[in-house]
Amino acid sequence: MIELRKITGDNIDEVIALEVGENQKDFIDTNNLRSIADAYVLNAEGIPTTPFAIYADGVAIGFLMYIYDTTDHESFQNEVFYGEKIYFIWHFMVGERYQGKGYGKLAFEKMLADIGTMPYGEAENVGLFYRTSNAIAKKLYTSFGFVDTGIIQDHSMHAIKYLDEKRTEASKSIKTIL
Ligand SMILES: CC(C)(COP(=O)(O)OP(=O)(O)OC[C@H]1O[C@@H](n2cnc3c(N)ncnc32)[C@H](O)[C@@H]1OP(=O)(O)O)[C@@H](O)C(=O)NCCC(=O)NCCS
Repeated sequence: MIELRKITGDNIDEVIALEVGENQKDFIDTNNLRSIADAYVLNAEGIPTTPFAIYADGVAIGFLMYIYDTTDHESFQNEVFYGEKIYFIWHFMVGERYQGKGYGKLAFEKMLADIGTMPYGEAENVGLFYRTSNAIAKKLYTSFGFVDTGIIQDHSMHAIKYLDEKRTEASKSIKTIL
């Protein structure tokens, strides 16, 4: 059984010890320790942030974190979603020895369900970046309905999933026409 649990004094060491494979380090700009520190800073700055430990049958096997923010970075200035409230996936990993067992997919699904309850407020979409070379991540996100926006920063593609399914479908057809 997959569960998302808050980071506490009981699991913080286990979560920090989880690492991706050596050849996957380039896929992520961060690590679990840094992300937990970022969560502290973001929350202090008024950006609601939730870091979660991913558990499989009671064992901490991964980490994910999302924030509730506004899409106001200048690189999004010309986009239809500029200025919209979003949930943004900051970090997502499964420890190397636990990968490929279906845990990541189930945890991601649970996280999207959690976001779907709009825990910090209404939002238009869920956003994330993935390295363009990260084929596994791309496939996983596409399977959940994420669509590339075409915005690339530091070799990472921006993708979004509208929380209103109709907008996701509309954005797909716009991309097809383009
Ligand atoms: C991305 C990641 C979280 C996926 O977690 P996971 O538990 O390994 O994924 P799952 O076992 O649920 O598999 C998800 C899909 O990826 C595929 N997959 C997973 N590992 C794979 C591998 N080594 N080779 C090929 N396909 C793989 C699975 O077959 C599955 O596809 P399917 O649904 O079509 O069968 C994990 O690989 C990871 O931590 N990678 C390094 C960090 C990273 O890239 N994070 C994302 C940053 S954007």
